[in-house]
Amino acid sequence: MKPFRREPNELTSKDRETKIVEFSFRELRFKYVEERNIGMKPTVYVTRRIPEVGIKLLEEYCEVRYRDEVPSPPRDELLKAVEDVDAIFCTLNERIDKELIDRAKKLRVVGTMSVGYDHIDLEYATSKGIYVVYTPGVLTETVADHAWALLLAAARRVVEADNMIRSGEWTIPWAPTMMLGHDVYGKVLGIIGLGRIGYAVAKRAKGFNMRVLYYDVVRREQAEKELGVEYASIERILKESDFVSIHVPLTPETRGLIGEKELRMMKKTAVLVNTARGPVVDQKALAKALEEGWIAAAGLDVFEKEPIDPDDPLLKLKNVVLTPHIASASHDTRNKMAELTAEGIIKVLKGERPDNLCNPDVLKVRPLDQVKLI
Ligand code: GLV
Repeated sequence: MKPFRREPNELTSKDRETKIVEFSFRELRFKYVEERNIGMKPTVYVTRRIPEVGIKLLEEYCEVRYRDEVPSPPRDELLKAVEDVDAIFCTLNERIDKELIDRAKKLRVVGTMSVGYDHIDLEYATSKGIYVVYTPGVLTETVADHAWALLLAAARRVVEADNMIRSGEWTIPWAPTMMLGHDVYGKVLGIIGLGRIGYAVAKRAKGFNMRVLYYDVVRREQAEKELGVEYASIERILKESDFVSIHVPLTPETRGLIGEKELRMMKKTAVLVNTARGPVVDQKALAKALEEGWIAAAGLDVFEKEPIDPDDPLLKLKNVVLTPHIASASHDTRNKMAELTAEGIIKVLKGERPDNLCNPDVLKVRPLDQVKLI
């Protein structure tokens, strides 16, 4: 019996299978020569350090090229590393664009350890027959918890109060007017984007006896029945809500969705929370809104540029709570995300339909039996 895995120098030409693959996508015809080494494990490049469970799983089926470092690879290194791999395990910080896809001639599947996939040129990947898998679902509750942590912290000035104590400024034991914040219980929560995470945020609002308004591109009648949430325009949400929490993906339509005009519509006592993507909010306008008191406070986990510039005006403001893009960062959830990404990659390489396929159109471009390597 052939061993499952052999060293490259043990390969003979008989072990190489070459075939011409043809397919069409959006009326264009494509043709490429595909070479695969029979009997060898497929190669997967893991761009940076991930929870061990993901690596262990990949190692059962793949030759893992693990870049065991915390930061993302520099672009040049990334482009070089993907040249001869069958799969990439990446994170939201690596751009999987046309340039990269063109360099990765053997690429069959990209697994991103994230729910967002705005860093991936999905249309181009699809046109090249590359499967893209991601991690929806497993991080929903963790991100919703974090949105609430920011909401409560911003409303009740938790970070500001903590800093006050640490800096020795707490000199009067209790004072009727000290550190006044905003009530949450019984107020109005506006949710922009009622997908999985928006829904989980709305569900928590029930415990705070809040009225919840939501906007989404489609009406969510099931959620309306289950949670008693009310569909409203973005304008109405901004005008009526005491808290506005953003849960939309970053797309050309949502970029800059909340700018100066929208911030000026909000209540002076309102709190804005963003755990979605930084560019959905115009950050300069938000800094101005917080400084000039158009709104009361904000809680932000995401930024237009990450890490944020050290001279960003937001850093000088007390009425904003900042966290470094950690909304899904719990031990359990990050393990599940790594596992799910690895599972998705393995499924595609086994020629099985993965549960979390971002680009189902790819099935028509390059059927699963043509990506199978395991
Ligand atoms: C985090 O932002 C994610 O997309 O998973």
